[in-house]
Amino acid sequence: QAPQDLAGLRVVVSAGGTREPLDPVRWIGNRSTGRQGVALAQAARARGAHVTLVAANLEASVEGCADQVVPVESTAELRQAVRAAATDADVVVMAAAVADFRPAAPTGAKIKKVAGQGPAPIELVENPDILAELVRERLRPGQTVVGFAAETGDATGSVLDHGRAKAVRKGADLLAVNAVGAGRGFGTPDNEVWVLDAIGDQVAHVSGTKRQVADVLWDAVLKTRG
Ligand code: C5P
Repeated sequence: QAPQDLAGLRVVVSAGGTREPLDPVRWIGNRSTGRQGVALAQAARARGAHVTLVAANLEASVEGCADQVVPVESTAELRQAVRAAATDADVVVMAAAVADFRPAAPTGAKIKKVAGQGPAPIELVENPDILAELVRERLRPGQTVVGFAAETGDATGSVLDHGRAKAVRKGADLLAVNAVGAGRGFGTPDNEVWVLDAIGDQVAHVSGTKRQVADVLWDAVLKTRG
Protein backbone atom coordinates (compact mmCIF):
# COMPACT_ATOMS: atom_id res chain seq x y z
CA GLN A 1 0.00 0.00 0.00
CA ALA A 2 1.16 3.53 -0.84
CA PRO A 3 2.04 5.92 2.01
CA GLN A 4 -1.04 7.94 3.01
CA ASP A 5 0.88 11.22 2.80
CA LEU A 6 -1.91 13.05 0.90
CA ALA A 7 -4.58 12.07 3.44
CA GLY A 8 -6.86 15.00 4.33
CA LEU A 9 -6.08 16.90 1.11
CA ARG A 10 -8.77 17.69 -1.44
CA VAL A 11 -7.34 17.75 -4.93
CA VAL A 12 -8.77 18.59 -8.34
CA VAL A 13 -7.16 17.24 -11.49
CA SER A 14 -8.23 18.25 -14.98
CA ALA A 15 -7.39 15.72 -17.68
CA GLY A 16 -7.84 15.12 -21.38
CA GLY A 17 -8.30 17.58 -24.19
CA THR A 18 -11.04 20.09 -24.81
CA ARG A 19 -13.23 20.09 -27.92
CA GLU A 20 -14.42 23.42 -29.25
CA PRO A 21 -17.67 23.07 -31.20
CA LEU A 22 -18.04 24.30 -34.78
CA ASP A 23 -21.58 22.97 -35.17
CA PRO A 24 -23.59 20.17 -33.46
CA VAL A 25 -21.43 17.42 -35.01
CA ARG A 26 -17.94 18.90 -35.44
CA TRP A 27 -15.26 20.27 -33.20
CA ILE A 28 -11.65 21.46 -33.10
CA GLY A 29 -9.65 19.35 -30.68
CA ASN A 30 -6.23 17.96 -29.82
CA ARG A 31 -4.45 14.64 -29.35
CA SER A 32 -4.46 14.48 -25.56
CA THR A 33 -5.67 11.09 -24.27
CA GLY A 34 -5.85 12.12 -20.61
CA ARG A 35 -3.55 9.32 -19.44
CA GLN A 36 -1.20 11.58 -17.47
CA GLY A 37 -4.14 13.27 -15.73
CA VAL A 38 -5.75 9.94 -14.89
CA ALA A 39 -2.40 8.70 -13.51
CA LEU A 40 -2.24 11.84 -11.34
CA ALA A 41 -5.73 11.18 -10.00
CA GLN A 42 -4.98 7.50 -9.34
CA ALA A 43 -1.72 8.28 -7.55
CA ALA A 44 -3.34 10.96 -5.38
CA ARG A 45 -6.20 8.67 -4.44
CA ALA A 46 -3.82 5.80 -3.64
CA ARG A 47 -1.96 8.21 -1.33
CA GLY A 48 -5.13 9.15 0.54
CA ALA A 49 -6.35 12.37 -1.11
CA HIS A 50 -9.96 13.15 -1.93
CA VAL A 51 -9.88 13.44 -5.72
CA THR A 52 -12.16 15.23 -8.16
CA LEU A 53 -11.30 14.48 -11.78
CA VAL A 54 -12.56 16.92 -14.40
CA ALA A 55 -12.49 14.67 -17.44
CA ALA A 56 -12.40 16.18 -20.93
CA ASN A 57 -13.02 13.57 -23.61
CA LEU A 58 -10.77 10.90 -22.14
CA GLU A 59 -9.49 7.89 -24.03
CA ALA A 60 -8.24 6.41 -20.77
CA SER A 61 -10.47 4.50 -18.34
CA VAL A 62 -11.37 6.44 -15.18
CA GLU A 63 -12.49 3.34 -13.27
CA GLY A 64 -11.75 3.84 -9.58
CA CYS A 65 -9.31 6.71 -10.10
CA ALA A 66 -11.32 9.47 -8.39
CA ASP A 67 -13.96 10.07 -5.74
CA GLN A 68 -15.85 12.20 -8.21
CA VAL A 69 -15.59 12.40 -12.01
CA VAL A 70 -17.03 15.43 -13.80
CA PRO A 71 -17.23 14.87 -17.56
CA VAL A 72 -16.80 17.96 -19.75
CA GLU A 73 -16.26 18.65 -23.45
CA SER A 74 -15.46 22.29 -24.21
CA THR A 75 -13.12 24.76 -22.52
CA ALA A 76 -16.13 26.69 -21.20
CA GLU A 77 -17.46 23.54 -19.49
CA LEU A 78 -14.03 22.59 -18.17
CA ARG A 79 -13.52 26.08 -16.77
CA GLN A 80 -16.85 26.02 -14.94
CA ALA A 81 -16.26 22.52 -13.51
CA VAL A 82 -12.68 23.25 -12.38
CA ARG A 83 -13.65 26.54 -10.75
CA ALA A 84 -16.60 24.97 -8.93
CA ALA A 85 -14.43 22.16 -7.56
CA ALA A 86 -11.51 24.50 -6.80
CA THR A 87 -13.44 26.57 -4.26
CA ASP A 88 -12.76 23.94 -1.61
CA ALA A 89 -9.61 22.31 -3.01
CA ASP A 90 -6.14 22.35 -1.45
CA VAL A 91 -4.46 21.53 -4.77
CA VAL A 92 -5.53 22.05 -8.37
CA VAL A 93 -3.56 20.37 -11.15
CA MET A 94 -4.33 21.53 -14.67
CA ALA A 95 -3.17 18.53 -16.67
CA ALA A 96 -5.77 19.00 -19.41
CA ALA A 97 -4.77 20.21 -22.85
CA VAL A 98 -7.00 23.27 -23.09
CA ALA A 99 -7.67 24.88 -26.47
CA ASP A 100 -6.20 28.36 -26.72
CA PHE A 101 -8.85 29.38 -29.26
CA ARG A 102 -12.45 28.43 -30.08
CA PRO A 103 -14.71 29.06 -33.07
CA ALA A 104 -16.28 32.50 -32.59
CA ALA A 105 -19.80 31.50 -33.55
CA PRO A 106 -20.65 27.79 -33.37
CA THR A 107 -23.82 27.17 -35.38
CA GLY A 108 -26.95 25.47 -34.02
CA ALA A 109 -27.45 23.64 -37.30
CA LYS A 110 -24.91 21.52 -39.16
CA ILE A 111 -22.72 23.50 -41.56
CA LYS A 112 -23.60 22.41 -45.11
CA LYS A 113 -21.46 22.12 -48.20
CA VAL A 114 -23.02 24.34 -50.84
CA ALA A 115 -22.44 23.42 -54.51
CA GLY A 116 -20.27 25.97 -56.22
CA GLN A 117 -19.18 27.64 -52.97
CA GLY A 118 -15.83 27.13 -51.37
CA PRO A 119 -15.36 26.55 -47.65
CA ALA A 120 -16.27 29.40 -45.31
CA PRO A 121 -13.36 30.61 -43.17
CA ILE A 122 -13.49 29.71 -39.47
CA GLU A 123 -13.11 32.71 -37.21
CA LEU A 124 -11.48 31.97 -33.85
CA VAL A 125 -11.54 33.86 -30.57
CA GLU A 126 -9.24 33.42 -27.58
CA ASN A 127 -10.27 31.24 -24.62
CA PRO A 128 -9.67 32.40 -21.06
CA ASP A 129 -6.47 30.96 -19.55
CA ILE A 130 -7.96 28.91 -16.72
CA LEU A 131 -4.59 28.26 -15.08
CA ALA A 132 -3.74 31.97 -15.07
CA GLU A 133 -7.12 32.76 -13.50
CA LEU A 134 -6.59 30.15 -10.76
CA VAL A 135 -3.14 31.61 -10.00
CA ARG A 136 -4.52 35.15 -9.92
CA GLU A 137 -7.66 34.46 -7.91
CA ARG A 138 -6.60 31.64 -5.51
CA LEU A 139 -10.18 30.43 -5.08
CA ARG A 140 -9.21 28.98 -1.71
CA PRO A 141 -6.55 30.51 0.58
CA GLY A 142 -3.33 28.49 0.63
CA GLN A 143 -4.30 26.60 -2.51
CA THR A 144 -1.45 25.07 -4.54
CA VAL A 145 -1.88 25.53 -8.29
CA VAL A 146 0.00 23.29 -10.71
CA GLY A 147 0.21 23.60 -14.50
CA PHE A 148 1.48 21.43 -17.29
CA ALA A 149 3.33 22.54 -20.37
CA ALA A 150 3.89 20.38 -23.43
CA GLU A 151 6.99 21.70 -25.15
CA THR A 152 9.18 20.88 -28.12
CA GLY A 153 12.74 22.08 -28.54
CA ASP A 154 13.42 24.37 -31.51
CA ALA A 155 15.99 26.81 -32.85
CA THR A 156 15.15 29.34 -30.13
CA GLY A 157 15.70 26.96 -27.23
CA SER A 158 15.40 23.50 -25.65
CA VAL A 159 12.30 22.00 -24.06
CA LEU A 160 13.62 23.14 -20.70
CA ASP A 161 14.36 26.70 -21.92
CA HIS A 162 10.79 27.08 -23.14
CA GLY A 163 9.51 25.49 -19.93
CA ARG A 164 11.45 27.93 -17.74
CA ALA A 165 10.09 30.93 -19.60
CA LYS A 166 6.56 29.57 -19.28
CA ALA A 167 6.96 28.83 -15.55
CA VAL A 168 7.85 32.47 -14.92
CA ARG A 169 5.10 33.75 -17.22
CA LYS A 170 2.37 31.53 -15.73
CA GLY A 171 3.40 31.95 -12.09
CA ALA A 172 1.88 28.64 -11.00
CA ASP A 173 3.40 27.15 -7.83
CA LEU A 174 4.67 24.29 -9.95
CA LEU A 175 4.87 23.73 -13.69
CA ALA A 176 5.40 20.23 -15.06
CA VAL A 177 7.17 20.58 -18.38
CA ASN A 178 7.00 17.62 -20.67
CA ALA A 179 8.73 16.92 -23.93
CA VAL A 180 6.32 16.15 -26.77
CA GLY A 181 6.78 15.16 -30.38
CA ALA A 182 9.00 12.48 -31.94
CA GLY A 183 7.22 9.64 -30.14
CA ARG A 184 7.17 11.36 -26.75
CA GLY A 185 4.29 12.68 -24.66
CA PHE A 186 0.82 12.45 -26.21
CA GLY A 187 -0.49 8.91 -26.54
CA THR A 188 2.68 7.26 -25.24
CA PRO A 189 2.87 5.28 -21.99
CA ASP A 190 6.03 7.03 -20.80
CA ASN A 191 6.84 10.63 -20.19
CA GLU A 192 9.86 12.82 -19.45
CA VAL A 193 9.03 15.71 -17.15
CA TRP A 194 10.87 18.56 -15.45
CA VAL A 195 9.09 20.07 -12.46
CA LEU A 196 9.79 23.80 -12.10
CA ASP A 197 8.74 26.24 -9.41
CA ALA A 198 7.19 29.68 -9.92
CA ILE A 199 10.56 31.29 -10.68
CA GLY A 200 11.59 28.56 -13.10
CA ASP A 201 13.99 26.68 -10.82
CA GLN A 202 14.06 22.91 -11.27
CA VAL A 203 12.49 21.02 -8.37
CA ALA A 204 12.52 17.54 -9.91
CA HIS A 205 13.25 15.65 -13.12
CA VAL A 206 11.70 12.29 -13.94
CA SER A 207 11.64 9.98 -16.87
CA GLY A 208 9.29 7.05 -16.57
CA THR A 209 5.72 5.86 -16.65
CA LYS A 210 2.93 8.37 -16.25
CA ARG A 211 2.30 6.90 -12.79
CA GLN A 212 5.96 7.48 -11.80
CA VAL A 213 5.72 11.03 -13.11
CA ALA A 214 2.51 11.47 -11.10
CA ASP A 215 4.14 10.31 -7.86
CA VAL A 216 7.12 12.64 -8.35
CA LEU A 217 4.73 15.54 -8.96
CA TRP A 218 2.75 14.81 -5.79
CA ASP A 219 6.06 14.62 -3.85
CA ALA A 220 6.88 18.08 -5.22
CA VAL A 221 3.44 19.38 -4.27
CA LEU A 222 3.93 18.17 -0.67
CA LYS A 223 7.38 19.81 -0.58
CA THR A 224 6.10 23.20 -1.79
CA ARG A 225 3.24 23.10 0.72
CA GLY A 226 5.90 22.57 3.39
O1 C5P B 1 0.43 28.07 -22.40
P1 C5P B 1 0.08 26.64 -22.42
O2 C5P B 1 -1.24 26.33 -23.11
O3 C5P B 1 1.19 25.74 -22.90
O4 C5P B 1 -0.10 26.27 -20.89
C1 C5P B 1 -0.46 24.98 -20.51
C2 C5P B 1 -1.07 25.01 -19.14
O5 C5P B 1 -2.09 26.01 -19.08
C3 C5P B 1 -1.76 23.71 -18.82
O6 C5P B 1 -1.71 23.51 -17.42
C4 C5P B 1 -3.19 23.96 -19.28
O7 C5P B 1 -4.11 23.12 -18.61
C5 C5P B 1 -3.37 25.42 -18.95
N1 C5P B 1 -4.28 26.18 -19.81
C6 C5P B 1 -5.42 26.71 -19.28
N2 C5P B 1 -6.28 27.45 -20.07
C7 C5P B 1 -5.99 27.67 -21.37
C8 C5P B 1 -4.81 27.15 -21.92
C9 C5P B 1 -3.97 26.41 -21.12
O8 C5P B 1 -5.68 26.52 -18.09
N3 C5P B 1 -6.85 28.38 -22.10
